[in-house]
This record gives sequence, structure tokens and C-alpha cells, in this order.
Amino acid sequence: METKIYKIGSSVADNAFMKEAAAVIRDGGLVAFPTETVYGLGADAFNPDAARKIYAAKGRPSDNPLIVHIAEFKALESIAEVLPDYAGKLAEVFWPGPLTMIVKKNKNVPYETTGGLDTVAVRMPDHPVALQLIRESGRLIAAPSANTSGRPSPTLAEHVAEDLGGRIPVILDGGEVGIGIESTIIDLTEDVPMILRPGYITGQMLEEVIGIVKTDPGIISGDSFTKPKAPGMKYRHYAPRADLIIVDGERKAVVDKINEWTDDMQAKGKRVGIIGTDETAAYYRGNMILSMGTRDDEDVIARHLYRILREFDEERVDIIYSESFATPRIGQAIMNRLLKAAGHRIYVV
Ligand code: TXA
Ligand code: MG
Repeated sequence: METKIYKIGSSVADNAFMKEAAAVIRDGGLVAFPTETVYGLGADAFNPDAARKIYAAKGRPSDNPLIVHIAEFKALESIAEVLPDYAGKLAEVFWPGPLTMIVKKNKNVPYETTGGLDTVAVRMPDHPVALQLIRESGRLIAAPSANTSGRPSPTLAEHVAEDLGGRIPVILDGGEVGIGIESTIIDLTEDVPMILRPGYITGQMLEEVIGIVKTDPGIISGDSFTKPKAPGMKYRHYAPRADLIIVDGERKAVVDKINEWTDDMQAKGKRVGIIGTDETAAYYRGNMILSMGTRDDEDVIARHLYRILREFDEERVDIIYSESFATPRIGQAIMNRLLKAAGHRIYVV
């Protein structure tokens, strides 16, 4: 299959490519599109065959449910069995935006979309291309991240093409995404709302709006016994081809430790990759040193994470050492992804 890549500029509404992409969705096909978090791989949420195509294109296990993307709040009412107490308040503050709500589904939503669950994940993305695709198609759009299963989520259209080129008909290219890590997922089906995946919207931000919020122990714990509640969180995700080890501690001690290990590895003929920051990059001795950006701007660090992991996949390095990024606000989300990529290997100096 030939994959068409369409650059979408600022005039989204009457764009001929948008109309073509919307028609693909209505016909049961797949369209990759930008959101503010990461690129999504979209299909008509009410069409079971279209949902199956998503799983096939990504090589994704079919018990891993999809997020339904909507453009108006009333679309949530049209697919939820009951509207949870907090949904309206959360939507008012955070939608459109990087928050996914889990609610009980009604019979309109096929099990192919929800991976067999009686609940459905819903989000209103904050991106003009995503919103226009939903509106123009007249459908709700089920979309996981537009990567091959097990690879870092795409933050550029080029990443989508790398993974899914030849497997899907259309990629809408909206340039680099703004946030770079996937949405926060909050489960509203229990008495106390629970965060199933940390993201740009933090627990504290949610608590300011709806009071007490729990966090799924399965996403914090590094052991393999505490099962996360979001099916997708249990799979080994975001894994670079090389081994990755995180080194945490005071800045100078981290640089010294990584350099010591680098010397050891290079003496054995290994190629070493290093994930540092603008503040430290010049002090490392690895074969390939990439900076996440400055520690003064954690948004930039979040945005660069997946791109950097992909860059290491292209270069042949044997081992990657990374600094730790437990930054004040979105550090939990960044570290959740980085720890998974590292198989939870973290060394504290
Ligand atoms: O930012 C995002 O959320 C991006 C963009 C494209 O919107 N999407 C995304 O989708 O990250 P995906 O499929 O890569 O991750 C969805 C996560 C998975 O971990 C899945 O298991 C979980 O959401 N999920 C979906 N429906 C669920 C449900 N009903 N109950 C619990 N977890 C659910
Ligand atoms: Mg994903």
C-alpha cells in the first residue's frame, strides 16, 4: 500500500487533504494524525473492522483497548452508560487537552474498540488537525499512538512513516507535537478517581479540580507482581534496541559515574550512548551524546524523550546511560516512560 503524507498548514478547515482523510475514516480506513501529545492512528470508533485494522497495522495485542477521540462534550454522553460525577468538571478545565477519562461504555461502542472491556477511554485532543478530522468525518475516532507496538510513540510525522509507512493509506503531517508524552489517563468508574497513566496533567492539578485522586500502584511499582489497571501499561513499551540504564543523583556524581562506566565499556570495544542535558552534555565521553534540552524547561525535556530514544535505535550503540529526569511537575510522567524503556534499571549514586 502506498502511504500518502500530507503536510497540513494553518488553514485546516477547508483543506482538500483533510477532506480526503475524513473520507478514508468514513470508509473504514486508517489515518495517522497529530495531536498535542503524540501522533495517533485513527479509525471510525464504531466500526469493528476498522478497529481490527488498527491492531493489525501496529502489531498490537487485541486486548489492549483504544482511546476514543471526540470533538464535543456531548459525544461523551453518546457513548457513556452513565456520566460520572466528575466528568463535566474535568472536561470544563482540561478539555480539549491531554486528559483521557475512563467511563462505563454503552452499547454503541463495539468491544473491538475497547479490547473487550465494558469501559471506554475518551479524550478531546487539543490540536486543530485532530479536531477537524473528527468533525469533518462525522465520526468519533478510535486512536492509539501511531507507532509499531513496542516502539516509542511518534512525536513527528517522520516517526509514523518509519513505523507504519506502506501499511496505512494516509499520514497527516502537522509537524512536531507540543507535549511529546501520552495523555494522563484517569479512571472515573470507581468511587475515588484513579490515575492509570501519568501525563502532562498531574495528580495535583486533578485534585485541585475534583478533590482526592488515587494513583494506580501498578504504574509506580517496578515489580512484575503489581498489575497495572490500564491493559497497555503492562506491556514492555518504549524499549530502545540497546540496553538502557538510568543514573540518578547529584549532577556531578552522575556525570562521573556515567563517564567511569563509559570508559569501561569502550575499553571492551562497546559503543556507548548517553542521554544528558544542555548543562552536562559537554562533560561526557560517550560515542553518541544527546541532550534532552535544558533542565530549566521540563516541557522541552518531555518533548524530546521519544525522539531521542528513536535516534539511538538508528545508531548502533550497545548500551545507553541516561540521567534521571524526576523534574518537579511532569517528572513522574517522564520517569514512568524512561523507567519502562530501561526495564526499571536505575542506579543511584
Ligand atoms: O495521548 C494519548 O493518549 C495518545 C494520543 C494519540 O491521543 N494515545 C495513546 O493511546 O497513548 P495508546 O493506545 O497508545 O494508549 C492508550 C492506553 C493504553 O495503555 C490502554 O491500555 C489504556 O489507554 N486504555 C484504553 N482504554 C482503557 C480502558 N477502558 N480501561 C483501562 N485502560 C484503558
Ligand atoms: Mg501507545
